Amino acid sequence: MTTQPAWQALESQRESLPHLRDLFAADPARAEKFQIEAAGLFFDYSKNLITAETISHLVDLANAAGLRGRIDAMFRGDKINTTENRAVLHTALRAPRTASIKVDGADVVPEVHAVLDKMAAFSDRIRSGDWKGHTGKPIKNIVNIGIGGSDLGPVMAYEALRHYSRRDLSFHFVSNVDGTDFAEAVRGLDPAETLFIVSSKTFTTLETMTNAATAREWSLAGLGGDKAAVAKHFAAVSTNAQKVSEFGIDTANMFGFWDWVGGRYSMDSAIGLSTMVAIGPGNFREMLAGFHEMDEHFRTAPFERNIPALHGLLAVWYNDFFGAQTAAVLPYDQYLKRFPAYLQQLTMESNGKHVALDGRRVETDTGPVYWGEPGTNGQHSFYQLIHQGTRLIPCDFIAFAKSLNPLGRHQDLLISNVFAQTEALAFGKTLAQVEAEGTPPAIAPHRVFEGNRPSNVLMAEKLTPATLGRLVSLYEMSVFTQGAIWNINSFDQWGVELGKALAQKIIPELESPTEPALQHDSSTNSLIRRYRRLKA
Ligand code: F6P
Repeated sequence: MTTQPAWQALESQRESLPHLRDLFAADPARAEKFQIEAAGLFFDYSKNLITAETISHLVDLANAAGLRGRIDAMFRGDKINTTENRAVLHTALRAPRTASIKVDGADVVPEVHAVLDKMAAFSDRIRSGDWKGHTGKPIKNIVNIGIGGSDLGPVMAYEALRHYSRRDLSFHFVSNVDGTDFAEAVRGLDPAETLFIVSSKTFTTLETMTNAATAREWSLAGLGGDKAAVAKHFAAVSTNAQKVSEFGIDTANMFGFWDWVGGRYSMDSAIGLSTMVAIGPGNFREMLAGFHEMDEHFRTAPFERNIPALHGLLAVWYNDFFGAQTAAVLPYDQYLKRFPAYLQQLTMESNGKHVALDGRRVETDTGPVYWGEPGTNGQHSFYQLIHQGTRLIPCDFIAFAKSLNPLGRHQDLLISNVFAQTEALAFGKTLAQVEAEGTPPAIAPHRVFEGNRPSNVLMAEKLTPATLGRLVSLYEMSVFTQGAIWNINSFDQWGVELGKALAQKIIPELESPTEPALQHDSSTNSLIRRYRRLKA
């Protein structure tokens, strides 16, 4: 890719780019040139370090990388996850009933909707109180047990859409194998009123299986030990029916999905069962419609007018041409407090790769580190570094015009900060301006803001289930675009395997009643010995 004319044009353009102050001063119509309204979102990318030529070269780069063909291949169901020989069809999870998408010759859309219908019937029974626990009480508490994609999506969506949730039901999420996570989640809950949803694509994940076994013990202990209680207090979401039934969960209470749904792309599959119970099937379907709207925009819009494609290309621009190692996502909505954490798996498990699709080492840096916190809290913490530090950190600001909790002036105060921050980042404050304010010369340099720090603003009227679907799809497709330019497989995650395998070896060494013969390096050996001594 680095030998492509577009890449080289971008490299030379990067050297000669004017400051954002000058770019805006030279073109009063700049904002309109770099704004798009599509699929229910407004995207202002005018405060990026770009000109019209930059965008044209980035689009050339996308074309050189075959982005169009890659998009078509993904949506068609080709096995683009080559290292696992799988199709990548999270887009089918939100396709309308009338669509037809084939994997190995079979249309998957009817199956998708059959599972959604089954989830809806189950959710309605829980929400109406028709589903009774072992002692005849209705369910009041729902505990999702899962990790990674089987947790981060459900937690994020529950928090994001809490406004739409049933407030007489309580929702809890257990992910960590640290027993504290389980203990605190179920503290004060009545087992007779508690339903566990064990969410695991593979149904073999150490953390989830350990927590699920503990949940079964906790449930049975609180319900008199009758194993029949499991059927009333456990549901499973998995692709692995055999493991689900071995665990003792009735497969009638199992909600399936498919190997063509990656864990981090699964919040809109049956993995979203807790979300659906919380917000109801109607709202869940609205969320899916939002996803689909953005999917279709990404699939059909020319790259120059394509929000996810441009978003992804800008990420490549900063990552590879400015050496930006991180990207911040700053939602100005408290309900999106887990959105950055959700995006960390989506972006970094997808594009944290050093090997290209052809098996060779990549030529450029790949996935940046994504991080963030809701505004305005971050402003009183790490924004100092974004404004005046030595590193370039491109930022995404996410804002809504209407609050779901309109209280006095809060929303105007909140959103004024979005606009102020992007303005300050782009334009800064010169030494002359600081001096003109009468700042003493010794202090003046400390009060200078260089500006020229890039940001995007994503805006919508308000946070709804559909808006959430659109936002998540936008980032999924941005990640896809970035992966296409880097020619990597954004859909495998071999990098999590080594640590898992080593832990399996270490577990018996920690649990052995006799001193184990250790054959690790001297550091690991001594840490294991110290742990054994301390816990004794
Ligand atoms: O951490 C690796 C991973 O495989 C993620 O990709 C996945 O989301 C998570 O573990 C959970 O996997 P499962 O749903 O199979 O329990």
